[in-house]
Amino acid sequence: TNEIDLVVVGPEIPLCNGVVDALQSAGVLAYGPDEAGARLEGSKAFTKNFLAKYEIPTAGYENFKEIEPALYHLSQCSMPIVIKASGLAAGKGVLICQNQKDAEAAVKDMLSGDSFGESGKEIVIEEFLEGEETSLHLICSGESFLALPMSQDHKKVGEGDTGLNTGGMGAYAPTRLVDDDMLDEYLDCIVRPTLAGLKREGVNFRGTLYIGLMLTDQGAKVLEFNVRFGDPETQVILPLLEEDLVSLLLLSARGEVLPEKISFKKSIAMVVVLASLGYPESYPKGEILSLPNELPKGSEIIHAGTAQNEEGEIISNGGRVLCSLGVAQTLEAARSLAYALCEKIDFQSKYFRRDIGHRELSRQ
Ligand code: AMP
Ligand code: GLY
Repeated sequence: TNEIDLVVVGPEIPLCNGVVDALQSAGVLAYGPDEAGARLEGSKAFTKNFLAKYEIPTAGYENFKEIEPALYHLSQCSMPIVIKASGLAAGKGVLICQNQKDAEAAVKDMLSGDSFGESGKEIVIEEFLEGEETSLHLICSGESFLALPMSQDHKKVGEGDTGLNTGGMGAYAPTRLVDDDMLDEYLDCIVRPTLAGLKREGVNFRGTLYIGLMLTDQGAKVLEFNVRFGDPETQVILPLLEEDLVSLLLLSARGEVLPEKISFKKSIAMVVVLASLGYPESYPKGEILSLPNELPKGSEIIHAGTAQNEEGEIISNGGRVLCSLGVAQTLEAARSLAYALCEKIDFQSKYFRRDIGHRELSRQ
């Protein structure tokens, strides 16, 4: 009816359920991986086996479906240890356990299906890695890809990276953590083998590949793959594009070759997430938002969990409500813009971290 020219699929659930396959069979051009490609995000157990098979660096692991062998394996492991529900869990299916007792409880809880349902019917028990996290987003078309600027998210809800894991409380890009030589190495040791491995497995991977990396003393290791743009990483990557985004997405959706390199703006972008106090647990909704009418150059408000009430007012409607974006020549300036805007936005339960970018600032 609407003669849609291109569908860009954002979230992981429809991708894992094969919406791109369905759109393609209906003759609608779609950006994103097919169901087979989306398994890189939809099954951590599959992904770990894939990484091992193609010798792509990642944490040591074992997959389990039964409680007894998993508990025996745990008794042989040193702590801390990481326990992951294999299936989709909106970022909440990863537990870092400090002792045997907590680890055993996590294994039983997941495999019994009590807390993660089907997603926890298989688990990954994984070596704990230490280092800094960063993520690499790529627009892919088979073995051809375009690497976007590397970003750093802040997953913990509290300042100083404390408290519960969230979808992400703020981000910046590009990060100085990774220089051009390091990026080239990641492309050679991680990206190319991944796309070539997928091809050997019969998957022509199209769409976004988001690689979560841990930079350890032994080099970068893959923490996870996502098959979509990250939130809030996308909010800081896209403002740096000089090229038209849609043209790039179209190349991928059509299975055409992507440019190997494009130029990016020489700016730094930072985004601070304005959440409802209580997130990622329970939080209020329906609060009226007060937003500034005019924004200084380089600032932008990005809506996430918002809605409009019957009176036409904008109200909060989710845990992560808005993003405050600053784009400038330096990290400090981008940060000032983003935080100045946070002060001009109001709603009753407004909560945000005041230390986004703290690691990068301490690197200067
Ligand atoms: P994932 O969804 O697999 O990326 O895990 C979510 C978060 O848990 C990551 O962003 C890390 O902060 C943490 N994490 C996952 N795996 C490990 C690991 N092997 N060692 C240390 N931290 C991890
Ligand atoms: N920021 C993490 C994610 O989008 O999964």
